[in-house]
Amino acid sequence: MTFAHPSLHHEPMPPFIGGTPVHLADTFAHDVLEGLSLPEKSIPPTWLYDATGCELFEAITDLPEYYPTRTEIGILRRCVGEIAEAVGPGAVVVEIGSGSSRKTPLLLHALESPQAYVPIDIADDSLVGAIPPLAARFPQIRFYPTVGDFRRPLVLPSALRDFSGRHLGFFPGSTIGNLRPHEAEECLANIRATLGRHALLVLGVDITRDPAVLLPAYDDAQGITAHFNLNLLARINRELDGNFDLHRFRHMVRYDHRRPRIEMHLVSTKDQHVRVLGQEFRFAEGETLHTENSYKYRLTELAPVARASGWMTENVWTDPDARFAVMLLSAMD
Ligand code: AVJ
Repeated sequence: MTFAHPSLHHEPMPPFIGGTPVHLADTFAHDVLEGLSLPEKSIPPTWLYDATGCELFEAITDLPEYYPTRTEIGILRRCVGEIAEAVGPGAVVVEIGSGSSRKTPLLLHALESPQAYVPIDIADDSLVGAIPPLAARFPQIRFYPTVGDFRRPLVLPSALRDFSGRHLGFFPGSTIGNLRPHEAEECLANIRATLGRHALLVLGVDITRDPAVLLPAYDDAQGITAHFNLNLLARINRELDGNFDLHRFRHMVRYDHRRPRIEMHLVSTKDQHVRVLGQEFRFAEGETLHTENSYKYRLTELAPVARASGWMTENVWTDPDARFAVMLLSAMD
């Protein structure tokens, strides 16, 4: 994995890979081979986001059924002023899972003279596509695009030491919902450790629990989400010498109200064998490959989760239908 795009920076700097020193291509291969060997096959959702996956996810965010993105943007519009006031001047903004950075301008415009913006994403292609146009819109801000995996402790570019402003984490989109509750707590604790003392964090969390709203959001009429899910198999074929027949798998979504979480699966429609990196795996008819979890939280459990990972809840904003929550958290000493 290389990430040498000097044009992304206002001055040449060495490529920076955050998180672990492990090569992403190796971890993809490892996660796929391990996941296909489990009694209940599953692959971490991280790998849904290659260039095609990122494009498809962007299309999902515009779907009429997919409420989270537009709901969160609506909330952010109403609360960025208050957030900016709490943050103060000269902030260093660190976005976790920045993707298209579509919500970022809202925050950067509201803040008083932010100094630096560090978008962190697993998908280097999405950084390459999204960051140069954004950097052009904010010439006073220094940009440090970083490839990283938020499942691991994040390492910030050392150049950030030159900035005195407060660190503001930005973790929108209910991306945290991809993690199991104990992993989510660990992730928030890692972010707390990475951002340091006096840091603030803006966290977006999905609080919808109505299956009639949730199921269509993850199984849309146009089949974009199905395409997004199946692209994982196409990616394995492309990058790991796989031979998945995409016509022999179908997109399936279920809501587990006890956890509560949305699950995405790919169901094998036939008894079949598949080869990946020279290894053979059997799928029985009806067997599923679990590709994503999207945990939903109760409004009342958010502050305790935050507190358990070293964050005080300063404020929580929701929309009129209480579908989504935006929290402002402050690092506890
Ligand atoms: C990017 C993890 C927040 O769980 O809603 C959307 C991913 N998957 N449709 C979500 C997703 C299928 C999304 N997150």
